[in-house]
Amino acid sequence: MAFKKSNIPGEDIRLATEMTAKRRKLIDETPAAPLVYEYGVNRLAKDLHPGFVKAVIAEKTPCSADCWRIRLEPAAGEAFPYFRAGQFVTLSCRAGESFLSRPYSVISSPREALEGKLEIMVQRKGIFSTFLIDEAAAGTELIAGEPSGDFYFDSIRDRKHIVAIAGGSGVTPFLSMMKAIREGSEDFRLTLIYGARTRDHIPFDPEKFRGEGVEVIVVLSEEEAEGYRHGFITAGLLKEYIDCDTSVFMCGPDAMYRFVRGELESLGFDETKIRQERNSVGDREVSEIKAFRLIVHIRDAVYELEATNNETLITALERAGIPAVVRCRNGVCGFCHSRVVNGEYFIAKENDFRRSADKKFNYIHPCSTYPESDMEIDIPIMNP
Ligand code: FES
Repeated sequence: MAFKKSNIPGEDIRLATEMTAKRRKLIDETPAAPLVYEYGVNRLAKDLHPGFVKAVIAEKTPCSADCWRIRLEPAAGEAFPYFRAGQFVTLSCRAGESFLSRPYSVISSPREALEGKLEIMVQRKGIFSTFLIDEAAAGTELIAGEPSGDFYFDSIRDRKHIVAIAGGSGVTPFLSMMKAIREGSEDFRLTLIYGARTRDHIPFDPEKFRGEGVEVIVVLSEEEAEGYRHGFITAGLLKEYIDCDTSVFMCGPDAMYRFVRGELESLGFDETKIRQERNSVGDREVSEIKAFRLIVHIRDAVYELEATNNETLITALERAGIPAVVRCRNGVCGFCHSRVVNGEYFIAKENDFRRSADKKFNYIHPCSTYPESDMEIDIPIMNP
C-alpha cells in the first residue's frame, strides 16, 4: 500500500495509525484461492520444449533390403511435442555396458506425432541402428530428445518449389514433409528425386506419396525398370526439374552431396539456394591409433575411462556407459557444450561450430572432438 507523506503537521502519524486497519481489511477481503505458480505460457513452453520424452518401441517393420521402420509411442504420462516436418529426434538407451544414442529424422507428420505416433526409419549401419534392428524388442524404453534441427521449409528463406534429393535413409525428412503437405500443415511444392541401387533398396512406396503438390522420381543405378529412371542424379536429370524459382534440399551420404553439388554447379545453380542436412561426425582416419586417459566430471561425479584418437569423445563416453548429453552429433547445436580442464584435442575445421568465446575459454563440443593427449573434461548432466 502506498504511503503519501503529508505537509499537514501530525497528519503523517494519523495516516500511519490507520495503516494496520486498512491492511487487515485488505487481507480479509482477499479470496483464499491458491497462488498461481504456473502460467499458460510456461505450460506451452514446456509442451513445446520438454527436453526429453520417454518413449517405447511399439512396432518394427522391415521396409527395404537394409531399412526398418520403427514406430514409437510415448511412455505412460508422456506426450510427443509439436515439430516441423524435416526435424530429427535423438534417441538413446542403455545397451549392455554402453549408453548409446543417435539422431533420426522423424518420418511421421507433425499431426501424427501429436496423436502419439512417432515413426523413424533405421538403416543397418552403426552400433545403435544395428542394436535397434536386431536386439531392441517391442516395449523397449528409449529416451527421445525434443525435435531439433533447422532442415525444414522456411517461407522467408526458401522458394515455394523444393527439389529434394535423397539417397538411402536420407529420404526420411522428406517423407514427413510430403505427409505434411498432404495434410495441409505445410504450404510448398516438393519434387523428390530419390537415388537407389535397385527397387529392393527403396524404403518407401513412391505411389503412396505422389499427388497434389508432390512429385516422386526414383533413379535406379543398378536396375532398369518401367516407371523408374536409370543411372545417377546427373545435371541432365536435374535440369528437368529445377529453375530459378527452386530451392534444393539434400539428405544422404557425403559422397552424394559432393556429386550432386558438382552437377548443380555445372548448371550454374545458385549455391545459396542449396541446403543439406549434416551427417553425424564419425571416426577419423589416423596413421596410428593411440589410447589416452580421459577423466570426466559430471557435477560431483568423476569417471575415468580410455579414449582413442580416432573416435570422438562422445563415442568414448557412450562406450563406457556414461550418459552424456548429446543431440545433433555433428558439432552444430551446441547441446553437448563442455569445458576442457586440461589436455590436447582435435576438431576438424568443417565440424567446428564453436563461438569465439568457447575457443578462448577452452570449451568444446565432445560430439565433434577427438583426443590428442590425456584429457580432463567437465560435461553437462543429463536430465531425462
Ligand atoms: S550434440 Fe550438437 S554440438 Fe554436440
